[in-house]
Amino acid sequence: MSKTIGILTSGGDCAGLNAAIRAVVFRADQLGWKVLGLETGTAGLFFTPPKVRHLKPEDFSGGVMRMGGTILGTTNNRNPFEYPMDDGSIKDRSGELIDAAKGLGIEALIGIGGDGSFEILTRLAKQGGINFVGIPKTIDNDVGLTDVSVGFDTAVAVATEALDRLQPTAASHDRVMILEVMGRDAGHIALNAGIAGGADVILIPEISYSIENIAKKINDVKAGGRNFVLMIISEAVKSPEGESREVVFHGGETRYGGIGHYLGPKIAEATGSETRVTVLGHVQRGGSPTYNDRLLASALGVKAADLVHEGKFGRMVAWKNREAVDVAIEDAIKDCHTVEPDGALVKTARALGISFGD
Ligand code: F6P
Repeated sequence: MSKTIGILTSGGDCAGLNAAIRAVVFRADQLGWKVLGLETGTAGLFFTPPKVRHLKPEDFSGGVMRMGGTILGTTNNRNPFEYPMDDGSIKDRSGELIDAAKGLGIEALIGIGGDGSFEILTRLAKQGGINFVGIPKTIDNDVGLTDVSVGFDTAVAVATEALDRLQPTAASHDRVMILEVMGRDAGHIALNAGIAGGADVILIPEISYSIENIAKKINDVKAGGRNFVLMIISEAVKSPEGESREVVFHGGETRYGGIGHYLGPKIAEATGSETRVTVLGHVQRGGSPTYNDRLLASALGVKAADLVHEGKFGRMVAWKNREAVDVAIEDAIKDCHTVEPDGALVKTARALGISFGD
């Protein structure tokens, strides 16, 4: 009888998750393993019977690899160690999850997640003696020990296209266009898209700025004869007073958001330029994955299934020096990967005359 791998997607979705699931299923099938898809991250395990489905290669014969989102569903606000109950209380439900996972008869679990999900999943795996392998995904690209995570390339492509679309309208109206992008505490999306999309100013949480310096750059661009300016800002950039701009949702959950609209009027006042703000939001997570994300997801998915077959657990697959490798997942979690203020891409941007407002 074939042995079984459980697979789940956890945390915020991104493009490329389905390509990663497909790669695991294809490779596992070649190696003689059955794959059970766990639905809605770990949350599907709270149901009786647990929400799972047998995934077979033929399930992926059509367009699934090309689709954004995750066919398994996901969640990014249901930590089983601090589970928010309907009555408002918080409960540790990790034991229930471990029992449910064991009841499925899985020999190994592959989790496709970011650092937050990996922290939870490795803790569950340790507590329950579950064999775990992680595949890194996040548009934020902040998972340590991998050059890149699944979903990042697509998010950068979307943000770059947004700058491409903002440029002609900015030029038509003599405007300063501000594009606010996601990325949580890492400025990778803004930095990469800013360079690729020809931004004049990039603001990221790793480099502090002043309105005066931004205004100087805008005035310099205009003095040079150009009638528009493109700016890209990471959502976690703080206000000049040092405060994070956040949105509070029902139930008190917070997310970064609002720095673009906060800075827009201040920049307009400091420069006398007409300024408009676009907040890109979840558009960066959806849509068909770029070919880079499909390749990465395929390589990492195959590698993850190989690790399971070899009995190598407590590992995260990673992309290093143009190949899929594996690293200790605990080291990857510890090594959160934000932008290095003196790193190569920041230097490239400066060499192109892009201002960080510093
Ligand atoms: O971590 C991915 C991410 O998209 C961040 O860039 C963003 O801050 C956050 O998730 C948004 O979370 P939610 O989907 O819960 O609004």
